[in-house]
Amino acid sequence: MGIPAPDPPLADAVVTLRPWREEDAPAIVAAIDGDPEITQWLDLIPQPYGLADARDYIAQCRRAWADGTGATFAVLEATSGSLAGSTGVRFGDPVHAVAEIGYWVAREARGRDVATRALRLVCRWLVDEVGVARLQLQADALNQGSQRVAEKAGFTREGVLRASRWNERRRTRVDFVMFSLLPAELPD
Ligand SMILES: CC(C)(COP(=O)(O)OP(=O)(O)OC[C@H]1O[C@@H](n2cnc3c(N)ncnc32)[C@H](O)[C@@H]1OP(=O)(O)O)[C@@H](O)C(=O)NCCC(=O)NCCS
Repeated sequence: MGIPAPDPPLADAVVTLRPWREEDAPAIVAAIDGDPEITQWLDLIPQPYGLADARDYIAQCRRAWADGTGATFAVLEATSGSLAGSTGVRFGDPVHAVAEIGYWVAREARGRDVATRALRLVCRWLVDEVGVARLQLQADALNQGSQRVAEKAGFTREGVLRASRWNERRRTRVDFVMFSLLPAELPD
């Protein structure tokens, strides 16, 4: 069963989050295609990245909202409405009430707390409205930026999952750091 999207949308003074729409496809391509940071850290995102990839991704996100397996948001600049990034959540078995979060920020929007703000908003929603009991995220052990975002949003570094993923571009196994946040630890 699907999860209702937040209404009104999640927002603070800087970012607004809403589910992806079909018309977002060109902006997703502009943000992702050829970006070396996204290529380096998000191995599952194809490169080069074209309109067909973006349309497939949006369709996949819509299915996940509808069947309750995921909740993925476009992160928009609150003032201009332009695309600043993405924050996505995957839900496992509802018995365990665990949500796993991921994110990326477009080149020109980086370094302005966009990822941290979006992550905080999504975490608050997941705890207060969705009833998630454990939030977790995994960052490549070499991805300092992503780990800093997790810490700034209040996550605790639990440990390193050694050689836990295969990275197709690097043709090697890589270590990931597991972070978690429990409801009582949510920052104000
Ligand atoms: C990692 C990423 C999401 C950060 O987004 P952002 O909006 O620029 O991050 P913020 O502005 O919220 O930064 C939060 C903190 O991280 C730090 N940070 C951001 N990028 C960093 C980097 N590359 N190296 C070291 N620290 C970094 C910032 O300095 C800030 O810390 P500070 O306040 O102590 O100075 C963005 O660079 C990105 O999309 N990278 C490519 C995709 C990716 O790595 N996604 C995560 C996969 S798990």
